[in-house]
Amino acid sequence: MRAVAVSAFGAQPQLMDLPQPEPGPGEVLVRLAAAGVNPIDWKVADGMYGDPSTTSFPLVLGTDGAGEVLAVGTGVRRFTAGDAVFGQFQWPERGGGSYAELAVTGERSLAPAARSVTYATSAAVPTAGMTAYNLVEETRISEGRRVLIVGATGGVGTFVTQLAHGRGADVIATARPAMSDLMRTLGANETVDHTAGPVADQVLAAHPDGVDVLIDLTSGPEEFVAMMGTVRDGGTAVSTVGSADADVLTEHNLRGFNFANRPSPQLLDILAGQVDAGRLTVLVGREVPLEEAPEVLEASRSGRAHGKTVLEI
Ligand SMILES: NC(=O)c1ccc[n+]([C@@H]2O[C@H](COP(=O)([O-])OP(=O)(O)OC[C@H]3O[C@@H](n4cnc5c(N)ncnc54)[C@H](OP(=O)(O)O)[C@@H]3O)[C@@H](O)[C@H]2O)c1
Repeated sequence: MRAVAVSAFGAQPQLMDLPQPEPGPGEVLVRLAAAGVNPIDWKVADGMYGDPSTTSFPLVLGTDGAGEVLAVGTGVRRFTAGDAVFGQFQWPERGGGSYAELAVTGERSLAPAARSVTYATSAAVPTAGMTAYNLVEETRISEGRRVLIVGATGGVGTFVTQLAHGRGADVIATARPAMSDLMRTLGANETVDHTAGPVADQVLAAHPDGVDVLIDLTSGPEEFVAMMGTVRDGGTAVSTVGSADADVLTEHNLRGFNFANRPSPQLLDILAGQVDAGRLTVLVGREVPLEEAPEVLEASRSGRAHGKTVLEI
């Protein structure tokens, strides 16, 4: 089968011809139609999270995917051949990922795909959608809260904007001017141009009393401290890139943490339901062929994303 993989951590991703994986007990073999691209994919390729001694190479890249069940292993109850599914496939010990024609994953990493959208759209949802859902839950976003989202125009941010708006929050989203109208369509009350000057200064000029919640998807540790200055006393500040320091948060009298995602099949079900109900818009910025994955990963590494990129398989 065709797959985009690395032969070692840090090696250049390449299109390869690899053996077809077989589903073991509790596992599902999926013929993928599309794979969603996430920043975690190049981080996995670089070995930022992996242990070379337990990773099987060539390691197929990619976490998110959607397609049709081809076969199921013993004990699988929720799926049968022919089902349309979406979910997560990255499995370093098995050398598996979603940038491939075929992939196996555990039954609990999948859910029935939304019926109203294409596989490409479904493939854009799992990691970013579950992250966004957990973020609004864990920061207790509710009616009337003022929320600043930094990095709002990417995969996670476009979902967080919609989910926070859906809970009645006042959303301030960072966006380049070209993305401002789109972010308002998704539910942002205001946008702040992060290319026009320090975001924290702009937010405080408009809201001297600060925001209740900061969800920061991009800032390094120093920038995150500056962003924390926008949060009112006793408010909440969260980083998805490990920039929150517990001691600094305490000094500023803020609640906060470094976010770690907790995927589940229930969350996938909720997201598919929201897509089918028309309550969640999935912004697929680009659809490109599988073999362009190496270039797409370089673009993701540069941090520029307008919605999701999806690989067609
Ligand atoms: N901890 C976890 O469990 C977890 C889970 C999911 C994601 N993450 C991480 O969260 C980050 C965001 O993920 P994603 O999928 O949303 O990424 P993405 O789709 O690549 O989006 C990144 C967005 O950030 C914007 N951006 C870049 N620099 C910025 C700046 N200085 N100020 C404001 N906006 C800026 C970009 O817009 P412009 O191009 O217009 O600048 C882009 O829209 C990634 O690093 C990812 O690995 C962590």
